[in-house]
Order: sequence, then structure tokens, then C-alpha cells
Amino acid sequence: MKHFLDINEVPKSELRHILNEAKRMKSERKGFTKGAIDFGAPLSGHILAMIFEKSSTRTRVSFDVGMRQLGGSALILDASSSQLGRGETIGDTAQVLSRMVDAIMFRANSHEALLELAKWSSVPVINGLTDKSHPCQILADLQTLEECGLNLKGSRIAWVGDGNNVLTSFMEAAIAFDFEIIAACPHGYKPDIKTVWELQSKGGKITIVDDPNEAAKGADCLVTDTWVSMGDTNISERMQALGPYQVNEDLMAKTNDAIFLHCLPAHREEEVSSAVIDGPSSKVFDEAENRIHAQKAVLRWCLDK
Ligand code: CP
Ligand code: NVA
Repeated sequence: MKHFLDINEVPKSELRHILNEAKRMKSERKGFTKGAIDFGAPLSGHILAMIFEKSSTRTRVSFDVGMRQLGGSALILDASSSQLGRGETIGDTAQVLSRMVDAIMFRANSHEALLELAKWSSVPVINGLTDKSHPCQILADLQTLEECGLNLKGSRIAWVGDGNNVLTSFMEAAIAFDFEIIAACPHGYKPDIKTVWELQSKGGKITIVDDPNEAAKGADCLVTDTWVSMGDTNISERMQALGPYQVNEDLMAKTNDAIFLHCLPAHREEEVSSAVIDGPSSKVFDEAENRIHAQKAVLRWCLDK
């Protein structure tokens, strides 16, 4: 069973293969309409169920479009209006869906719920974001950086802002793709220290600092994300603590002509200035599009197609 639960659970060579496939499939679609089915319809006859416990635009559209392009189809279960919302267990849900669909994508409130679904599912489960990680996003990010000509190996990627789920997946990817990651996060909003130690002990070149300028210095890519993730409650404290961590033109000027990435949705003039996100260094819409291509490669990998 090939679940796609986290970057660090997939062997490096297979991650490389997924990324190469994403780029190949994207290039082969040049000139075709968005709904055109890929040659050979590799996932013909396959159905993906997508369970959402949290909101989504990119994840739901990119997985749905991706399945259609592969010749299959997708359906959405909103957790609150399905029996999950009335207390049916994740284990029972996993076993029922396994009889009806070929793969399940889950956007879960808690990472434990994702692991529980994977435990009981007899079809591949894909992490569509949890409180802990967002691995599909990071594949799209890496695809975008390589398309911009960045050689990931030995590059320096800076994260500025909240030490959240997206950062965790980026730190995991640093090991697999051999890049350095330096994250500047305020006190109280740094990534989980045990996770950082564990990744460092596995060879991850990961540094956590306080000062955004230190992270930005010499960076080839600068990434940020919202200051308030889905499920966060302490909004005013977050805004205050993260205020000095805005990515703006002054910060970008300290980088090595960095590419700017943001998983979106963005909050202009909060975590990033309009001048940066709408400026020439920003590749956020290529990054969003690449969710389709990267996830198509994940789906084919999971289903051995
Ligand atoms: N980046 C991302 O996962 O976006 P959505 O929340 O819109 O799916
Ligand atoms: N960190 C954000 C990412 C949204 C795609 C969140 O979890 O809400």
C-alpha cells in the first residue's frame, strides 16, 4: 500500500521520480485545453474520494482537475455533512470508502485522524493538509523552483513567519533534496523543536533563527505563509508577534535575488506586501498551478500507474 502521508515517509529516489513525472506530464500538456485527458488516460476507471474537514480552493480543484486529466474522476465529502460529522468512526469510514473508491485524499484537522484513516484504509491515502504537514504543497513548490532553474541541491531556502505545517514539510524535503533551510520565526511560533532535532539528526541542514534578515541573507528562495492557519485561535497575539516578519521589498533585497513562494491563500500587507507577491520575483501562481501536476504524479505513484 503506497500512502502519501508525509515527505519523509517516501524514499528519496521515489520523490525524485514523482517530481520528474510532474514536470514531464506538465510539459506534455502544452497546447491542450485544461480538461483534455492525458495520453493513455492512465487513471481511467479510477475514483478519488476527497474528505475535507477544513476549507480549500486549490487542493479541491487541483485534485479534481488532476483526476479528470488522468481519465478518472473525483468526489468530495464535506466532513460536516457526511456521517463523519455525526460520529461515525474514521476507521469505519475508511473501510467503507475502500470498497467504493480507489484512493482517498484527506484534509484533516488533526494529523492523528489522517494516520487513523490510513491505518484502516485498503486503498492509498493522500495527505491534503493536516495541522502538522502539507506534503503535496511542497512538491508543487519544489517543481516551481526547478522550473525557475534553481538547482535544489545546495540551495538556500529561507522561511519567514509562522513555524507551521507547511514549514514542517519543507524541512522534511530539505533532507530528501539536499538543500539548506533557514527559518526565522518569532518566539512562541517556532516549529516543534523535537521535530527539528529529529530532522537535523537525519542530516537535515535546518537552522531556526529569530531574525528575518538573517534568514533572508543570501537566500535563493524566500517562502512565507499566513500568520493565522486554519484552526488557530489566538489571532490578535499572532498578528502582534508576527508583525515584524512581513516579507517586503526591504527583506527581499537582502536575498540572493530570491524567488518568492507562498502556498496561498495570501493576506496582502500582512505576511507579504503587495509589491512582493505581485512583483517579478513572485512565482505564486505557477506554484498554485503546479499543485495539479505534482498531485497527478502522486496519484499515479500511489496507484502504480
Ligand atoms: N495551498 C492550499 O492548500 O490551498 P487551499 O487551502 O486553497 O487548498
Ligand atoms: N498554513 C495554512 C496553509 C493553508 C493552505 C493552514 O494550515 O491554514
